Amino acid sequence: MTLTIAVLISGNGTNLQAIIDAIQNGAPLKILTVISNNEKALGLKRAEKADIPTHVIKEELELQSCIDQYQPQFIVLAGFMKILSPAFIRHYPQKIINIHPSLLPKYPGLHTHQQVIDHHDKEHGCTVHFVTEIVDGGPIIAQSKLTVDPNDTAETLRQRVQQLEHTLYPRVLVSLIKTVQ
Ligand code: GRF
Repeated sequence: MTLTIAVLISGNGTNLQAIIDAIQNGAPLKILTVISNNEKALGLKRAEKADIPTHVIKEELELQSCIDQYQPQFIVLAGFMKILSPAFIRHYPQKIINIHPSLLPKYPGLHTHQQVIDHHDKEHGCTVHFVTEIVDGGPIIAQSKLTVDPNDTAETLRQRVQQLEHTLYPRVLVSLIKTVQ
């Protein structure tokens, strides 16, 4: 079975690229569409290169009707920098997932890497979770961890965590297949 997804982005789209690469390497996933709220998102170019239909949509009701036309099994937020309304989230119960650059419940919101440095944390990582009305607060599906090096900066942590994300996100998506069978 192939899991069908819609991917929502706002920027660079390296997580989108990791999913595209995983599919090209045989992962049983299909990206039905990539939707961005930002027409300048580099991720749109990545999608076009992979022949995935793209849309630029800023308005939420329009976003919902576009997604519904594709009928994806999951909606995958990959650097989508817009908080979704409770009504939107309720329309897709247990169907929206997000990747966040911290070990939730630590550090919801922005500037996670700097907070790790400021708190002298020994470990850091990323979390894939279901999206609920509580921002970055939905049930955790999986995490990847790294050990913080004394020489790490917020920037090196950002890069190191992204490497983890690129492995974790496709793997979690494939694991969701068993939940829809
Ligand atoms: C990732 O670090 C993700 O954790 C956060 O936004 C970033 C998106 O990066 N939600 P990219 O656009 O996938 O490169």
